Amino acid sequence: MKKIKNDGAAGAVPKKNSKQPLIASIGFGSMAGAICSNLRDSGIKVVIGSRNARSASAKKAFSENFDVTTISRAVKACDYALIAIPDLQIRDFFKKNGLDIFNGKCIILCHGLSFFYHPLSFPDDCDIILISPNAIANKLRENYASGIGDYALCAVLRDKSKKASKKLKYICDGLKISKNRLIQSKLKDEVFSDLFAEQSLLVGGILALTLSSFETMCEAGLSEEAAYLSTFHEIKYIVEAMNELGIKDFIAKISDVARIGSIRAFFESGLKDRIKHEFKRIYGDIESHRFYNNFINPSPEGVGGESQYQKQLNGILNSKLCEAYERFKRKNRQ
Ligand SMILES: NC(=O)c1ccc[n+]([C@@H]2O[C@H](COP(=O)([O-])OP(=O)(O)OC[C@H]3O[C@@H](n4cnc5c(N)ncnc54)[C@H](OP(=O)(O)O)[C@@H]3O)[C@@H](O)[C@H]2O)c1
Repeated sequence: MKKIKNDGAAGAVPKKNSKQPLIASIGFGSMAGAICSNLRDSGIKVVIGSRNARSASAKKAFSENFDVTTISRAVKACDYALIAIPDLQIRDFFKKNGLDIFNGKCIILCHGLSFFYHPLSFPDDCDIILISPNAIANKLRENYASGIGDYALCAVLRDKSKKASKKLKYICDGLKISKNRLIQSKLKDEVFSDLFAEQSLLVGGILALTLSSFETMCEAGLSEEAAYLSTFHEIKYIVEAMNELGIKDFIAKISDVARIGSIRAFFESGLKDRIKHEFKRIYGDIESHRFYNNFINPSPEGVGGESQYQKQLNGILNSKLCEAYERFKRKNRQ
C-alpha cells in the first residue's frame, strides 16, 4: 500500500473490501489520533485525509503507519468520515471541501457543537452520528488499551440510510464502548453539558480554584513548595479517591479536621451557594446562546473569538503556579 509522499502528492487509499467498511479521518489531531488507533487495533480499516501532507499531524499519522491521502480522495473512498477537527473549523471545512463528496457516507462527530449551531452547513444526503466520549483523547486510547472502554454520549443526528443506529453501534464496538457505557443523548444535552462543565468545573473551575488556593498561601508567606504540593500536586489524588470511593466513603475516610474545615469554608459560609448562583449565570449565557453568538463565533467585524482573552490567558500562563510546576518537573528529572 502506497502512502502519501512528503512532497504533498496524493497517496493511495486502502483497497475496499465489500464486507469491511472504510473509515476516513479528516486530519489526525488529538481525538482523531486516539479514535483511529483504537479502530485500527479493532481490525477496522482507516485512512487519513489530510489538507496538508507536510503538517505535523499528517507526519504523525504517516509515522504511525496510517495511509495518508488528500481529504477528497479519502472521503470519496470511505463509508464513514470522522470529522474530529476543531469545532469552530467545521463550518468552513464543508464550505471549502464541498458537500457532494459526503453523499451516501456516514459522518461521525465527537462533539455536537457545530451541528447544533450550524446544521445547514452540513451535507444533506448522508447519515450523521454523534459519539462524544467522556474521556480526553489520551485517556480514550489508554482505556481502550486496558480493555475498560469509556462512557460516551451518543445520538443519531441524521438517519438518511435508516441504518444510522447500526452504524453508530459498529463504531462504538470498534472503540470498545460497551452497550451499558453508551448513553443515548439529545443533541442539546451533549452540547450544553460539555460547554457548561468545562467552564464551571473541569477547566475554568479547577484552574481558578487551584490558582486562588496557591496564591493565597504564597501571599500569606507560606513557601511556594508547600503551596504547590498541597494544591496542584495533591488534587489528582483527591479526585481519584472521590471517584473510586464515591462521595459518602470519601467523606468518611478523610480526617475530622478536613471535614469540619471544608464544610465550614464552603457550605456553612454560603460560598457554595454563591458559586452556584454564578454558575447559573454561566449556564444562562450558554442556554440563551449569548455565549456562542457573542463570545465564540467571531462576527464578520472580528468581535469575539479567543484574542480578546489573551491578557487573562497570559496571566495564567505566567503565573507563579506555572513556574512552580516547571521547577518540580525539572526536579523530578534529576
Ligand atoms: N482533544 C480532546 O481530548 C477531545 C475530547 C472530547 C471531544 N473532542 C472533540 O474532538 C474533536 C477534535 O478535537 P481535537 O482537540 O482532537 O482537535 P485538534 O487536535 O486540534 O485537531 C487538529 C487536526 O485537525 C486538522 N484540521 C484543523 N482544521 C482543519 C480544517 N479546516 N480542515 C481540515 N483539517 C483540519 C488538523 O490538520 P493540520 O495538521 O493540517 O493542521 C489536525 O490534524 C472536536 O469536535 C472536539 O470537541 C476532543
